[in-house]
Amino acid sequence: MMRTETPRPIFLKDYEPSAYLVDEVRLDIVLDPTATRVTARSKVRLNPAVKQRKGGPLVLDGELLELLEIKIDSKVLATKDYSVSERQLTIKSPPVKPFTLEIATTCNPEANKALSGLYLSRGIYCTQCEAQGFRRITYFLDRPDVLATYTTRIEGDPETTPVLLANGNPVERGTLDRGRRHYAVWRDPHPKPAYLFAMVAGHLGSVASTFETMSGRKVDLTIYVEPGKEDRCGWAMECLKRSMRWDEERFGREYDLDVFNIVAVSDFNMGAMENKGLNVFNDRLVLASPETATDTAFFNIDRVIAHEYFHNWTGNRITCRDWFQLCLKEGLTVFRDQLYSGDFRSPAVQRISEVRHLKAGQFPEDAGPLAHPVRPDRFIEINNFYTMTVYEKGAELCRMIHTLLGADGFRKGMDLYFERHDGEAATVEDFIACFADSSGRDFSQFMTWYEQAGTPKLTCVLDYDEKARTATLTVTQETPPTPGQARKKPLHIPMRLALLGGNGNELPLELAKGEMTGDVLEITKKKETFRFTNVPSRPVPSLLRGFSAPVNLEIDLSDADLAFLMTHDADGFNRWQATQDYATRLLVAGVAAIREGTRAPSPTAFTRALGAIVYDDRLEAAYRAQALALPSEADIARVIGSDVDPGAIHRARNALRRRVSRDLRDLLADIYARNAIRGAYAPTPEQMGKRSLRNVALSVLAASNGADDVARARKHFETAKNLTDELAGFGVLCDVRGPEREAAVARFHKRWKNDHLVIDSWFAMQAASSLPNTLATVRALLEHPLMALTNPNKARSLIGSFAANQVMFNRPDGKGYDLVADSILAIDKFNPQIAARLLTSFRSWRTLEAERRGKAEETLRRVKETSPLSRDVFEIVTRILG
Ligand code: BES
Ligand code: ZN
Repeated sequence: MMRTETPRPIFLKDYEPSAYLVDEVRLDIVLDPTATRVTARSKVRLNPAVKQRKGGPLVLDGELLELLEIKIDSKVLATKDYSVSERQLTIKSPPVKPFTLEIATTCNPEANKALSGLYLSRGIYCTQCEAQGFRRITYFLDRPDVLATYTTRIEGDPETTPVLLANGNPVERGTLDRGRRHYAVWRDPHPKPAYLFAMVAGHLGSVASTFETMSGRKVDLTIYVEPGKEDRCGWAMECLKRSMRWDEERFGREYDLDVFNIVAVSDFNMGAMENKGLNVFNDRLVLASPETATDTAFFNIDRVIAHEYFHNWTGNRITCRDWFQLCLKEGLTVFRDQLYSGDFRSPAVQRISEVRHLKAGQFPEDAGPLAHPVRPDRFIEINNFYTMTVYEKGAELCRMIHTLLGADGFRKGMDLYFERHDGEAATVEDFIACFADSSGRDFSQFMTWYEQAGTPKLTCVLDYDEKARTATLTVTQETPPTPGQARKKPLHIPMRLALLGGNGNELPLELAKGEMTGDVLEITKKKETFRFTNVPSRPVPSLLRGFSAPVNLEIDLSDADLAFLMTHDADGFNRWQATQDYATRLLVAGVAAIREGTRAPSPTAFTRALGAIVYDDRLEAAYRAQALALPSEADIARVIGSDVDPGAIHRARNALRRRVSRDLRDLLADIYARNAIRGAYAPTPEQMGKRSLRNVALSVLAASNGADDVARARKHFETAKNLTDELAGFGVLCDVRGPEREAAVARFHKRWKNDHLVIDSWFAMQAASSLPNTLATVRALLEHPLMALTNPNKARSLIGSFAANQVMFNRPDGKGYDLVADSILAIDKFNPQIAARLLTSFRSWRTLEAERRGKAEETLRRVKETSPLSRDVFEIVTRILG
């Protein structure tokens, strides 16, 4: 696991097909906590597509394995016929004809705290093989373009492992040794790469249901959880069935096995994993009840269940040729889960939350030292490339294709993709070719989006000629340099737009030259001019509607224009964007004023326009809540971009919150009073919207820290009937100086100390507090008996939340950096993936003002100089330091 020599990157351009293929695998797994014995029998043959010297060596991947025996066609291999290194097993001259390879090894699930390969989580055996975990279970060609069918036999103790699960359909079960052992055999008929292999064994409760597919086949659905938690599975089951139906209706995709199983485990590096027929989930994304899960958790469960289910077609039936093509399955599947979510809540609210997420996470990645193309061309550790760029920007690229071709055109391309590549390991080129071929359009310039990193800046200038009644839109695009890519090519950018007349009406878009499809303008050059004719009066432009491309839009609008868009834009997304742009303008000016000791501009016109949105009952509550939530401190930092002072940002943002709180006081109090929900909790968009509006109102009201506001928050917290409200109250109290905070912390702990998922929020909320003693609090919580850095959810709750706390992480004395770095180095000793991920919190260090920048750099150098260091952390720290 630890680095012995400087790791070297591997390159996309060096891809070569495998010299050998495996068609069939039979796995025999005999469970034992410290020495699980795995026998893998593989049918191996030379790859006919590869010209080669017949009889070349067969090089298998393998890590942390104890090799017991190798047989070829039942004959034991002599030691001289193979060699073993830390990461490979080489069989020197295997037969030229197809042969059966049998390898027996053991691995140690109990010692596995990296949570990759086979490990034990609270007594449950489970596996995680993506991206390269299968090689920790047996020696294998662990690459996604080697597809085989799997038959898995698991044998274990019926007391501790009554449930035995693997991919595919169950074929046989039985007992051995007079009931002292038992076994189960599973067969997956669909050829798949090793990263989709999974097995689970343990003492598990379950909830079952059935689904009838579009062609009338019955599928047994089961969700397995820690015994006693079965009553928290109802929502996940509902979401699963809804996802299955949706993929049939929207994409014509039917499920293809007799069973579909989901297992929830407590120790999991990621959110969830799409193993064929046996999805494994982080339990926080399965278990839900109103008292123990927030609205956000309910929403995330729906989304992630859908996402992993959708992978059955986009990822499993059609997989990736190599790991550079990761966005082929992840970007596309995120886009599919976004479409799904958008079908069950309002499109504007859905799009706003997508774009918030993209800008908060992907834009800073693309603007800093970790920037990489949606399809990277090199990596040291593939686990470091499950990034916001691959996922979220990758999804945006699919969305742009959807925007360019329309919903029907997109569906045609997808149909062709499924038809052409089912059962194959494909590339981004294969995918794009399906849209080009089905639409007859040219996507060659569009490919640049996959190859070029960085967020393009789109500068727009609109000139109006009153005499000629024309409006001229000049668009310039520029993508800033990113690591390894100094010069950039122009991109093919779809821009949805409208020109608004005096009372907000949309003017007809007549282009003097060129064409426009509907309301989408296609930008392809570095600089372009579009002249609209018959424009009766000076229009206000509403550009990039629905955020039709992942770009930074710059257009010189006056305060009055922004207030106008906040009031009149019929595009819900852009109307919200105008509130954010106006607020951002005030906040950036506020930060400058604080640093220069001058006066900030008046926010009166802004708070008035904001009040009109927030109080407009014709708008959905969820939408009004989105408008009322000001840009975050990280959002402001990103816009400022250099010489960032997080302290000043915090003060400026608080000042604006206090102003909103003062100017809209009666209105917010009224919203708070009128949006209480009577009746039972339901995770419906309507109820969720009302709760979020009411909870944002609660928090904004408390910005002025009045005694009444604290009392309101306290009552809200103490009388809450669901976790959403309880945590909203708790969050407000965590920022209050005084006894209310201590009381709330104690009360919440007492109530939830036995629920490991709810207690994660207790850690997270305290780490997110902006009170000056937060560093000391987090230090103390590191020693809390319920804290365990070996559990990724716990590490994320405490360290991840603290690192996201802009003022506290970026303390001028550098102690925030040290706390996070020390935790990362501790975690790196057993879980490099989680350590490397936490380390990305430092990615924007160069944008900080000099003092903090110096401290951050010192800390990063200290990390880099530490030995040993995992490849994961080594790669991130090297790239971050640049
Ligand atoms: N395939 C991934 C899970 C994964 C990622 C496993 C990296 C191993 C390494 C899965 O489909 C996924 O993308 N999960 C996301 C949630 C999703 C809704 C974006 C996750 O785990 O965060
Ligand atoms: Zn995924």
